[in-house]
Amino acid sequence: MFTDEISFNQRTIARLLDSSPATVNRVVTTKLIPATLQTDSGKIKKYNLENTRNIAELILKNQRPKIYNKINVFYNFKGGTGKTSLCYQVACHLSILGYNVLAIDLDPQGHLSSALRVAEDVNYHTMYDVLINGVAINEAILNVFPGLDLVPANISMTRIEVPLSGKTKREEKLRLLLEPLKSNYDFILVDTNPTISTLNLNALVAADRVNVVCETQPFSLSGLRVLVEEMLQFYNEMHVQPNFGIIANKYESKTASSQEVLGALRTEYRDNVMDTVVRKCEDINISAKRKIPIFAFANKHSIAIEDILDLVREIIKHASISHEELMEKEKRAI
Ligand SMILES: Nc1ncnc2c1ncn2[C@@H]1O[C@H](COP(=O)(O)OP(=O)(O)O)[C@@H](O)[C@H]1O
Ligand SMILES: [Mg+2]
Repeated sequence: MFTDEISFNQRTIARLLDSSPATVNRVVTTKLIPATLQTDSGKIKKYNLENTRNIAELILKNQRPKIYNKINVFYNFKGGTGKTSLCYQVACHLSILGYNVLAIDLDPQGHLSSALRVAEDVNYHTMYDVLINGVAINEAILNVFPGLDLVPANISMTRIEVPLSGKTKREEKLRLLLEPLKSNYDFILVDTNPTISTLNLNALVAADRVNVVCETQPFSLSGLRVLVEEMLQFYNEMHVQPNFGIIANKYESKTASSQEVLGALRTEYRDNVMDTVVRKCEDINISAKRKIPIFAFANKHSIAIEDILDLVREIIKHASISHEELMEKEKRAI
């Protein structure tokens, strides 16, 4: 099983948990957590996913914040901005940290499902079956590895728009479906498809927080303006308080245009731009292709490791802001 390919040494676990190698070592020794792999000299020990989650539980138990905003949607109606890549990394790393995560693939292209190693030729249920054919959502949930479940997608989802748009309260279907699942998971992460569709509007209504994934290229700003304007208008019509952050992705510090776009983003959208900027890095590409989360293979100096870890922490931070605190913030901003 591929979970054996995902294992970490004590130093990496310490970095993931923002702890020290000495603390990790103390926990594995006192709690007798077995290593899956050991070099001949016994110096390097590696821990599989399940044991890494156990170590995380022991080290972080009193430090985990309460998660209020569980449903995080990765959104943009433009393709290629990095929605799937970031959703994949965040989902994997939250589960490595010990959270229980459900990922939902809403893109008929099924890139998230394939990165999570769901074979295309296997007959499985998708959100199409759940939303249109009345299949119970629990029957569509697959377990990918400890702490990570997935509702996969495939090409059959392309046909969802017509039957979905004929339903009453058509934009609220997903929210109603996910509500009872919130007690089973710490996070529900939704990857959307690059269109303006009823399915994506469902994702917006279900979202506790929307992560708008945006490229830092000269032409991305005008598209983003349209997207944010339409999203806010939609929320206004639905009488829903928006909660969103813009993630600047594929940032290239050496190019002036990347810097300009980031500057313009911050001027225009201020607090709505996430502090984390995800730099362009080949490791993100390789990770999806090899279907292994970045922490499990990239060099420890990889900038992608740094950025993904920052992103995961920032997403946890925003997820732990209660609705009341959020309203307070809004009031102060006006
Ligand atoms: N920070 C990054 N650095 C390098 N390549 C990236 C980065 N983010 C995404 N990519 C690559 O860009 C392409 C599109 O990303 P993807 O996540 O599929 O976008 P979307 O889901 O928005 O269509 C993929 O080949 C992916 O590997
Ligand atoms: Mg995608």
